[in-house]
Amino acid sequence: MRILVTGSAGFIGFHVSSKLLNLGYTVVGFDNLNSYYDLELKKARLEHLLEYDQFHFVKGSLENRSELEQLFAEHQFQVVINLAAQAGVRYSLEHPQTYIDSNVTGFLNLLEMCRIHQIGHLLYASSSSVYGANLKVPFSVEDKTDHPVSLYASTKKMNEMMAHAYSHIYRLPVTGMRFFTVYGPWGRPDMAYFSFTRSILEEKPITVFNNGEMWRDFTYVDDVVQAIIHLIPLPPVADTNWSGQTGSSNAPYRIYNIGNHNPVKLADMISLLERHLDKPARIEYRPMHPGDVEVTYADTESLEEQVGFKPETPLDTGLGKFVSWYKAFYEVNELALTKLSGE
Ligand SMILES: NC(=O)c1ccc[n+]([C@@H]2O[C@H](COP(=O)([O-])OP(=O)(O)OC[C@H]3O[C@@H](n4cnc5c(N)ncnc54)[C@H](O)[C@@H]3O)[C@@H](O)[C@H]2O)c1
Repeated sequence: MRILVTGSAGFIGFHVSSKLLNLGYTVVGFDNLNSYYDLELKKARLEHLLEYDQFHFVKGSLENRSELEQLFAEHQFQVVINLAAQAGVRYSLEHPQTYIDSNVTGFLNLLEMCRIHQIGHLLYASSSSVYGANLKVPFSVEDKTDHPVSLYASTKKMNEMMAHAYSHIYRLPVTGMRFFTVYGPWGRPDMAYFSFTRSILEEKPITVFNNGEMWRDFTYVDDVVQAIIHLIPLPPVADTNWSGQTGSSNAPYRIYNIGNHNPVKLADMISLLERHLDKPARIEYRPMHPGDVEVTYADTESLEEQVGFKPETPLDTGLGKFVSWYKAFYEVNELALTKLSGE
């Protein structure tokens, strides 16, 4: 089976591609290698993937339709996994246009390609941020998602709506995956657990919003990959008995929460990092950021029901693996730490 993974040089795309290659699939990776964060990290991920003979990489942007047309003309994909996007809640306040280009125009182009080439299953990344100002926890796929609090969240909600329209009109089987704070080795430097690790090691202060009164449903990346692997062979089928539920449809369309169902307070996450790094954090508190929400908490019932699997790696275990990777990747050793601390 030939699978297109967009965003393959990104954090989740890299892990999904690696797993698929290990399982013997042929993977075509597509990524524009943008400089939203450290390009060297993206290149290092890509180098690993290029070690596999069944991996092919195409550099391009989703919003450039002719690049996508060429990609789909050259390869016959059975499955498309869309993990390319402009991610990040806070960045979307300063760079709104980037989100429309990559996440909306880019996603439309991808839907068009899937329609024209009659792709058997499109899986795409949505986000827990679609729950926005939702007050009820845990967040269920049956809850309303009509009050996004950042443009990033709005674009993810738009993706879900666009996917439904294509699924309804063209019977395109589409699965939307609402990821909850994914973390792990090869992670994203803009995310708190990653930037906190760097700052703690360098003995620099870390910025914590809302006085640390925030809870996140941290989800280990291997669990996310496992969920995707389970979902690939399950293209949604139209529910002929559909009676208006939000997470399904009378079109071949499904939405799942992919989260740990176990929110952890930010202060506890920081304590775990301090223990794994064996160094204290210097915390500077800031007021709540306007694009943030206080709690994310996934109800994973429908995922478990459908595939018999749900993420459950404890944060302590996952952070330990992240810290080991971080130290090895950035060659942080005792000598470097001594130098950094000026002792
Ligand atoms: N990591 C999380 O906690 C999390 C949570 C919720 C949702 N998501 C979503 O999951 C997906 C993957 O996230 P990630 O954490 O791996 O992010 P990432 O930024 O590491 O990966 C995205 C990749 O897509 C590429 N890209 C961006 N715009 C592109 C475009 N227009 N055309 C081609 N390539 C483009 C980037 O270069 C990057 O390598 C994204 O859709 C993100 O919004 C992630």
